[in-house]
Amino acid sequence: MTGASTADRPRLATTAEALRIVDLIGNTPMVELRCLRESIAPGVTIYGKVEGFNPGGSVKARSAWNLVRRGLESEQLRPGKTILESTSGNTGIALAMIGAALGYPVKLVMPENVSRERKRVLQAYNAETVYSSPMEGSDGAIILCREILAQDPERYFKPDQYNSEYNSEAHYLTTGPEIWKQTGGRVTHLVATIGTSGTVMGTGRFLKEQSHDVQVVAIEPSDSFHGIEGLKHMASSIVPGIWHPEQVDRVVGVDTEDAYDMVYNLAAKDGLLLGQSSGAAVVGALEVARDLTSGVIVVILCDFGDRYLSTNLWLGWRDRHQLAANK
Ligand SMILES: Cc1ncc(COP(=O)(O)O)c(C=O)c1O
Repeated sequence: MTGASTADRPRLATTAEALRIVDLIGNTPMVELRCLRESIAPGVTIYGKVEGFNPGGSVKARSAWNLVRRGLESEQLRPGKTILESTSGNTGIALAMIGAALGYPVKLVMPENVSRERKRVLQAYNAETVYSSPMEGSDGAIILCREILAQDPERYFKPDQYNSEYNSEAHYLTTGPEIWKQTGGRVTHLVATIGTSGTVMGTGRFLKEQSHDVQVVAIEPSDSFHGIEGLKHMASSIVPGIWHPEQVDRVVGVDTEDAYDMVYNLAAKDGLLLGQSSGAAVVGALEVARDLTSGVIVVILCDFGDRYLSTNLWLGWRDRHQLAANK
Protein backbone atom coordinates (compact mmCIF):
# COMPACT_ATOMS: atom_id res chain seq x y z
CA MET A 1 0.00 0.00 0.00
CA THR A 2 1.40 3.34 -0.91
CA GLY A 3 1.01 6.19 1.60
CA ALA A 4 -1.10 9.25 0.80
CA SER A 5 0.90 12.15 -0.54
CA THR A 6 1.48 15.12 1.76
CA ALA A 7 -1.08 17.11 -0.22
CA ASP A 8 -3.83 14.56 0.62
CA ARG A 9 -3.37 14.70 4.37
CA PRO A 10 -5.40 17.04 6.53
CA ARG A 11 -3.38 20.02 7.58
CA LEU A 12 -2.63 19.88 11.30
CA ALA A 13 -1.26 22.74 13.35
CA THR A 14 2.49 22.49 13.70
CA THR A 15 4.02 22.83 17.15
CA ALA A 16 5.10 26.32 16.19
CA GLU A 17 1.46 27.29 15.50
CA ALA A 18 -0.11 25.70 18.57
CA LEU A 19 2.31 25.64 21.46
CA ARG A 20 -0.56 25.32 23.96
CA ILE A 21 -4.19 24.24 23.83
CA VAL A 22 -5.24 27.87 24.46
CA ASP A 23 -3.69 28.85 21.13
CA LEU A 24 -6.44 26.83 19.42
CA ILE A 25 -9.32 28.85 20.93
CA GLY A 26 -11.52 30.72 18.43
CA ASN A 27 -11.67 30.63 14.62
CA THR A 28 -14.73 28.38 14.78
CA PRO A 29 -16.60 27.46 11.57
CA MET A 30 -20.03 28.66 10.46
CA VAL A 31 -22.59 26.41 8.82
CA GLU A 32 -25.92 27.16 7.18
CA LEU A 33 -28.91 25.80 9.13
CA ARG A 34 -30.46 24.27 6.04
CA CYS A 35 -33.40 22.60 7.75
CA LEU A 36 -34.84 26.09 8.43
CA ARG A 37 -34.89 27.03 4.75
CA GLU A 38 -38.47 25.88 4.21
CA SER A 39 -39.70 28.15 7.04
CA ILE A 40 -38.10 31.40 5.83
CA ALA A 41 -38.01 33.64 2.75
CA PRO A 42 -35.58 32.61 -0.02
CA GLY A 43 -33.62 35.84 0.47
CA VAL A 44 -32.83 35.00 4.10
CA THR A 45 -29.97 32.76 5.24
CA ILE A 46 -29.38 31.59 8.81
CA TYR A 47 -25.83 30.57 9.70
CA GLY A 48 -24.81 28.94 12.96
CA LYS A 49 -21.39 29.69 14.45
CA VAL A 50 -20.40 26.35 15.88
CA GLU A 51 -18.67 27.20 19.15
CA GLY A 52 -18.51 23.59 20.28
CA PHE A 53 -15.35 23.32 18.18
CA ASN A 54 -13.43 25.39 20.74
CA PRO A 55 -11.03 23.53 23.07
CA GLY A 56 -13.10 22.67 26.14
CA GLY A 57 -16.13 22.40 23.85
CA SER A 58 -17.90 25.75 24.18
CA VAL A 59 -18.04 29.47 23.48
CA LYS A 60 -16.84 30.06 27.04
CA ALA A 61 -13.25 29.14 26.13
CA ARG A 62 -13.01 32.59 24.55
CA SER A 63 -14.03 34.60 27.61
CA ALA A 64 -12.26 32.32 30.13
CA TRP A 65 -9.00 32.67 28.22
CA ASN A 66 -9.32 36.44 27.89
CA LEU A 67 -10.09 36.81 31.62
CA VAL A 68 -7.08 34.65 32.56
CA ARG A 69 -4.83 36.36 30.00
CA ARG A 70 -5.75 39.79 31.41
CA GLY A 71 -5.23 38.48 34.96
CA LEU A 72 -1.73 37.30 34.06
CA GLU A 73 -0.93 40.63 32.38
CA SER A 74 -1.96 42.60 35.47
CA GLU A 75 -0.28 40.02 37.78
CA GLN A 76 -3.51 39.61 39.74
CA LEU A 77 -3.05 36.00 38.71
CA ARG A 78 0.41 34.84 39.66
CA PRO A 79 2.04 31.66 40.98
CA GLY A 80 0.53 30.61 44.32
CA LYS A 81 -3.00 31.80 43.43
CA THR A 82 -6.01 29.59 42.78
CA ILE A 83 -8.52 30.53 40.07
CA LEU A 84 -11.98 30.74 41.72
CA GLU A 85 -15.26 31.19 39.84
CA SER A 86 -18.97 30.50 40.08
CA THR A 87 -20.19 28.83 36.94
CA SER A 88 -23.13 26.82 35.71
CA GLY A 89 -20.75 24.65 33.76
CA ASN A 90 -19.09 25.74 30.55
CA THR A 91 -16.98 28.54 32.03
CA GLY A 92 -15.86 26.06 34.67
CA ILE A 93 -14.82 23.55 32.05
CA ALA A 94 -12.97 26.25 30.13
CA LEU A 95 -11.21 27.57 33.25
CA ALA A 96 -10.34 24.04 34.38
CA MET A 97 -8.83 23.29 30.96
CA ILE A 98 -6.87 26.55 30.92
CA GLY A 99 -5.71 26.12 34.54
CA ALA A 100 -4.49 22.61 33.74
CA ALA A 101 -2.65 23.85 30.63
CA LEU A 102 -1.00 26.76 32.50
CA GLY A 103 -0.37 25.00 35.83
CA TYR A 104 -2.83 26.96 38.02
CA PRO A 105 -5.22 25.24 40.46
CA VAL A 106 -8.92 25.90 39.77
CA LYS A 107 -11.85 25.90 42.25
CA LEU A 108 -15.39 26.08 40.90
CA VAL A 109 -18.73 26.73 42.60
CA MET A 110 -21.79 25.41 40.78
CA PRO A 111 -25.33 24.18 41.41
CA GLU A 112 -25.32 20.53 42.40
CA ASN A 113 -27.72 19.58 39.62
CA VAL A 114 -25.41 20.36 36.67
CA SER A 115 -25.12 17.42 34.33
CA ARG A 116 -23.10 14.34 35.29
CA GLU A 117 -20.98 14.73 32.16
CA ARG A 118 -19.91 18.19 33.31
CA LYS A 119 -18.91 16.98 36.75
CA ARG A 120 -16.82 14.20 35.21
CA VAL A 121 -15.09 16.51 32.77
CA LEU A 122 -14.11 18.84 35.63
CA GLN A 123 -12.71 15.92 37.60
CA ALA A 124 -10.65 14.95 34.55
CA TYR A 125 -9.11 18.43 34.40
CA ASN A 126 -8.34 18.10 38.12
CA ALA A 127 -10.48 21.06 39.20
CA GLU A 128 -11.85 21.30 42.74
CA THR A 129 -15.66 21.64 42.81
CA VAL A 130 -17.96 23.09 45.48
CA TYR A 131 -21.70 22.58 45.05
CA SER A 132 -24.41 25.12 45.85
CA SER A 133 -28.09 24.31 46.32
CA PRO A 134 -29.76 22.96 43.18
CA MET A 135 -32.85 24.98 44.14
CA GLU A 136 -31.00 28.30 43.88
CA GLY A 137 -29.63 27.94 40.33
CA SER A 138 -26.65 29.99 39.16
CA ASP A 139 -27.48 32.79 41.64
CA GLY A 140 -26.91 30.38 44.56
CA ALA A 141 -23.46 29.58 43.13
CA ILE A 142 -22.66 33.29 42.76
CA ILE A 143 -23.51 33.96 46.42
CA LEU A 144 -21.58 30.94 47.77
CA CYS A 145 -18.56 31.88 45.65
CA ARG A 146 -18.58 35.41 47.13
CA GLU A 147 -18.54 33.89 50.63
CA ILE A 148 -15.57 31.62 49.80
CA LEU A 149 -13.65 34.57 48.36
CA ALA A 150 -14.39 36.76 51.41
CA GLN A 151 -12.98 34.09 53.74
CA ASP A 152 -9.52 34.15 52.08
CA PRO A 153 -9.26 36.88 49.42
CA GLU A 154 -5.46 36.67 49.06
CA ARG A 155 -5.60 33.04 48.05
CA TYR A 156 -7.76 33.50 44.98
CA PHE A 157 -7.89 35.11 41.56
CA LYS A 158 -11.54 35.59 40.62
CA PRO A 159 -12.00 36.24 36.91
CA ASP A 160 -15.51 37.56 37.73
CA GLN A 161 -17.17 36.66 34.45
CA TYR A 162 -20.43 38.40 35.41
CA ASN A 163 -18.85 41.79 36.03
CA SER A 164 -15.55 41.98 34.15
CA GLU A 165 -15.60 43.76 30.81
CA TYR A 166 -12.76 41.39 29.80
CA ASN A 167 -15.50 38.80 29.34
CA SER A 168 -17.25 40.80 26.60
CA GLU A 169 -13.89 41.99 25.32
CA ALA A 170 -13.08 38.39 24.36
CA HIS A 171 -15.95 38.50 21.87
CA TYR A 172 -15.20 42.02 20.74
CA LEU A 173 -11.67 40.88 19.87
CA THR A 174 -12.47 37.46 18.37
CA THR A 175 -16.11 36.38 17.76
CA GLY A 176 -17.19 39.68 16.20
CA PRO A 177 -14.25 39.99 13.77
CA GLU A 178 -14.60 36.32 12.79
CA ILE A 179 -18.30 36.76 11.90
CA TRP A 180 -17.62 39.92 9.97
CA LYS A 181 -14.92 38.16 7.95
CA GLN A 182 -16.82 34.88 7.50
CA THR A 183 -19.89 36.68 6.10
CA GLY A 184 -17.82 39.09 4.01
CA GLY A 185 -19.48 41.94 5.92
CA ARG A 186 -22.97 40.76 4.85
CA VAL A 187 -24.27 39.91 8.33
CA THR A 188 -27.51 41.78 9.07
CA HIS A 189 -28.53 40.15 12.40
CA LEU A 190 -26.67 38.65 15.34
CA VAL A 191 -28.66 36.31 17.58
CA ALA A 192 -27.06 35.17 20.85
CA THR A 193 -28.29 33.92 24.21
CA ILE A 194 -27.74 35.60 27.58
CA GLY A 195 -25.90 33.89 30.43
CA THR A 196 -23.36 36.43 31.60
CA SER A 197 -24.24 38.34 28.38
CA GLY A 198 -20.55 38.55 27.41
CA THR A 199 -21.11 36.95 24.00
CA VAL A 200 -23.97 39.15 22.88
CA MET A 201 -22.44 42.33 24.33
CA GLY A 202 -18.93 41.99 22.88
CA THR A 203 -19.87 40.48 19.52
CA GLY A 204 -22.74 42.94 19.09
CA ARG A 205 -20.55 45.93 19.90
CA PHE A 206 -17.95 44.93 17.32
CA LEU A 207 -20.52 44.28 14.58
CA LYS A 208 -22.38 47.53 15.21
CA GLU A 209 -19.09 49.41 14.93
CA GLN A 210 -18.66 47.90 11.45
CA SER A 211 -22.25 48.73 10.43
CA HIS A 212 -24.91 50.58 12.41
CA ASP A 213 -27.52 48.55 10.54
CA VAL A 214 -26.57 45.23 12.14
CA GLN A 215 -29.40 44.23 14.50
CA VAL A 216 -28.41 42.58 17.76
CA VAL A 217 -30.94 40.18 19.26
CA ALA A 218 -30.51 38.68 22.74
CA ILE A 219 -32.29 35.47 23.71
CA GLU A 220 -33.41 34.60 27.24
CA PRO A 221 -35.65 31.88 28.69
CA SER A 222 -39.27 33.08 28.78
CA ASP A 223 -39.65 32.33 32.50
CA SER A 224 -37.60 31.88 35.64
CA PHE A 225 -38.12 28.11 35.97
CA HIS A 226 -36.56 26.88 32.78
CA GLY A 227 -34.43 23.96 31.65
CA ILE A 228 -31.94 25.79 29.46
CA GLU A 229 -28.53 25.31 31.05
CA GLY A 230 -26.24 28.32 30.86
CA LEU A 231 -28.99 30.94 30.40
CA LYS A 232 -30.46 33.57 32.71
CA HIS A 233 -33.98 34.96 32.88
CA MET A 234 -33.01 38.55 33.59
CA ALA A 235 -36.12 39.78 35.42
CA SER A 236 -35.75 37.10 38.12
CA SER A 237 -31.92 36.87 38.32
CA ILE A 238 -28.94 38.74 39.71
CA VAL A 239 -28.29 40.97 36.70
CA PRO A 240 -24.70 40.71 35.39
CA GLY A 241 -22.74 43.96 35.65
CA ILE A 242 -21.70 43.65 32.00
CA TRP A 243 -25.31 43.44 30.69
CA HIS A 244 -26.22 46.72 28.99
CA PRO A 245 -29.72 46.18 27.54
CA GLU A 246 -29.65 49.51 25.72
CA GLN A 247 -26.95 48.05 23.43
CA VAL A 248 -29.23 45.37 21.98
CA ASP A 249 -32.10 45.98 19.59
CA ARG A 250 -34.39 43.26 20.86
CA VAL A 251 -34.70 40.67 23.62
CA VAL A 252 -36.69 37.55 22.72
CA GLY A 253 -38.00 35.10 25.34
CA VAL A 254 -37.99 31.42 24.35
CA ASP A 255 -39.91 28.53 25.99
CA THR A 256 -37.88 25.54 27.16
CA GLU A 257 -40.03 23.09 25.17
CA ASP A 258 -39.53 25.02 21.94
CA ALA A 259 -35.77 25.11 22.57
CA TYR A 260 -35.71 21.34 23.13
CA ASP A 261 -37.79 20.66 20.01
CA MET A 262 -35.34 22.73 17.99
CA VAL A 263 -32.43 20.69 19.37
CA TYR A 264 -34.14 17.46 18.23
CA ASN A 265 -34.88 19.00 14.84
CA LEU A 266 -31.35 20.22 14.16
CA ALA A 267 -29.85 16.88 15.18
CA ALA A 268 -32.22 14.78 13.07
CA LYS A 269 -32.41 17.04 10.02
CA ASP A 270 -29.07 18.87 9.80
CA GLY A 271 -26.80 16.45 11.69
CA LEU A 272 -26.02 19.13 14.28
CA LEU A 273 -26.30 17.77 17.83
CA LEU A 274 -26.31 20.88 20.02
CA GLY A 275 -26.99 21.95 23.60
CA GLN A 276 -30.32 23.39 24.71
CA SER A 277 -29.12 27.00 24.70
CA SER A 278 -28.33 26.63 21.00
CA GLY A 279 -31.85 25.33 20.48
CA ALA A 280 -33.18 28.47 22.20
CA ALA A 281 -30.95 30.71 20.09
CA VAL A 282 -32.15 29.10 16.86
CA VAL A 283 -35.83 29.44 17.89
CA GLY A 284 -35.09 33.15 18.39
CA ALA A 285 -33.30 33.37 15.04
CA LEU A 286 -36.30 31.82 13.31
CA GLU A 287 -38.62 34.34 14.93
CA VAL A 288 -36.42 37.16 13.63
CA ALA A 289 -36.20 35.56 10.17
CA ARG A 290 -39.96 35.24 9.79
CA ASP A 291 -40.29 39.04 9.58
CA LEU A 292 -37.64 39.37 6.85
CA THR A 293 -37.56 39.03 3.07
CA SER A 294 -33.77 39.27 2.91
CA GLY A 295 -30.91 39.10 5.37
CA VAL A 296 -27.98 37.15 6.76
CA ILE A 297 -28.61 36.01 10.32
CA VAL A 298 -25.75 34.63 12.39
CA VAL A 299 -26.74 32.68 15.47
CA ILE A 300 -24.23 31.63 18.11
CA LEU A 301 -24.41 27.88 18.86
CA CYS A 302 -22.70 27.79 22.25
CA ASP A 303 -21.90 24.08 22.61
CA PHE A 304 -22.55 20.56 21.33
CA GLY A 305 -25.26 18.31 22.75
CA ASP A 306 -23.26 15.30 23.84
CA ARG A 307 -22.65 16.80 27.27
CA TYR A 308 -26.41 16.88 27.94
CA LEU A 309 -27.31 13.29 27.06
CA SER A 310 -28.17 12.43 30.68
CA THR A 311 -30.27 15.56 31.26
CA ASN A 312 -34.01 16.22 30.92
CA LEU A 313 -33.37 17.34 27.37
CA TRP A 314 -33.00 13.74 26.19
CA LEU A 315 -35.08 12.03 28.89
CA GLY A 316 -37.91 14.27 27.68
CA TRP A 317 -37.25 13.34 24.08
CA ARG A 318 -38.18 9.72 24.71
CA ASP A 319 -41.47 10.74 26.39
CA ARG A 320 -42.37 13.10 23.60
CA HIS A 321 -41.68 10.52 20.92
CA GLN A 322 -43.84 7.99 22.76
CA LEU A 323 -46.63 10.55 23.06
CA ALA A 324 -46.40 11.27 19.33
CA ALA A 325 -46.41 7.53 18.53
CA ASN A 326 -49.49 6.87 20.70
CA LYS A 327 -51.54 9.66 19.17
C1 LIG B 1 -24.43 26.53 27.07
C2 LIG B 1 -24.33 28.02 27.23
N1 LIG B 1 -25.05 28.79 26.41
C3 LIG B 1 -25.01 30.12 26.50
C4 LIG B 1 -24.24 30.76 27.46
C5 LIG B 1 -24.28 32.26 27.54
O1 LIG B 1 -23.08 32.88 27.17
P1 LIG B 1 -22.68 34.26 27.84
O2 LIG B 1 -22.23 33.98 29.24
O3 LIG B 1 -21.58 34.80 26.99
O4 LIG B 1 -23.88 35.13 27.84
C6 LIG B 1 -23.50 30.00 28.34
C7 LIG B 1 -22.71 30.61 29.40
O5 LIG B 1 -22.20 29.98 30.27
C8 LIG B 1 -23.53 28.58 28.21
O6 LIG B 1 -22.83 27.80 29.03
